[in-house]
Amino acid sequence: MVTLTVDGDELRVPEDATILDALHAEGTPAQADTPTLCWAPNMDPINACRVCVVEVENSRVLVPSCARKVEDGMVVRTDSEKVRHSRRMVLELLASSADMSQASADVARWTAEYGVDAARYGPPAPPSTDRDTRHAGHHHAPDGATAETVAQPVKIDNDLYVRDYSRCIMCYKCVNACGTDAQFTFAISAAGRGFDARIATEFNAELPDSACVYCGNCIGVCPTGALKSVREHELRSDGDWHPDEETVTTTICSFCGVGCNLELHVQQGSIVNVTSPADHSVTHGHLCIKGRFGFQHVQNLPQA
Ligand code: SF4
Ligand code: SF4
Ligand code: FES
Repeated sequence: MVTLTVDGDELRVPEDATILDALHAEGTPAQADTPTLCWAPNMDPINACRVCVVEVENSRVLVPSCARKVEDGMVVRTDSEKVRHSRRMVLELLASSADMSQASADVARWTAEYGVDAARYGPPAPPSTDRDTRHAGHHHAPDGATAETVAQPVKIDNDLYVRDYSRCIMCYKCVNACGTDAQFTFAISAAGRGFDARIATEFNAELPDSACVYCGNCIGVCPTGALKSVREHELRSDGDWHPDEETVTTTICSFCGVGCNLELHVQQGSIVNVTSPADHSVTHGHLCIKGRFGFQHVQNLPQA
């Protein structure tokens, strides 16, 4: 065990814990509510968004709490002016460039708590039609009057899930879930550089022509709603999405003998999504195509 001081209080945690682990396990409710975007309990730290930063004494820069391991005698500050300013800027820059309106309730709460004002970067620039073909080194200079965004048309090229990269904050969670964190399929990766960076399949192929096996594990970890089932996309487009009425029923997948726990998300008597608990010892929150999308056989959905 190691002992560290957080905002003046001593915490004792296992020596392989991260600062965020320590805040979750032993911190006050406010410390445990440290904002995160690229972190998930069932994934290795990605260290991309920097919204979880804290001050560590004798460290030159703010450190990401989700990735930095605790050390004996470490002195951490989680609510200094520097920390709050940095978190607000991260959230503001992301909100000024990506559509965060379908992000989780936690993100909406942090946005309010940190006083995020994305509008101060100016009105959004017109949506782009060429993000998928931009080449590194050929970036157009911004006009200075509008905020550049990642807006682009929704990609619907298969029957199971849509990719709405106007909402993408480049957290890399989908890339790692498709890769070494869960699926080992490597169907998607980051293409381009700087502001032109985007998530893409190999050679920007449509999903049916890519290596994708439709496990939906990328959907399961996406924090902004950029990736979602076709079912959810259609219900939202029809104005028929009712998250306040949603119930969640836990059951066991009947497709094979592995015994994955499923959480059936039901709205108005119909399954709209399927997830698995991040702490389930079999799935660690990830599923295959049958568990994720095979729910149509238990209900009679209207045909498109
Ligand atoms: S559905 Fe599965 S295989 Fe396809 S891109 Fe997402 S994580 Fe990769
Ligand atoms: S699509 Fe979602 S999970 Fe993937 S990088 Fe963008 S925001 Fe993150
Ligand atoms: S949550 Fe820590 S860097 Fe993104």
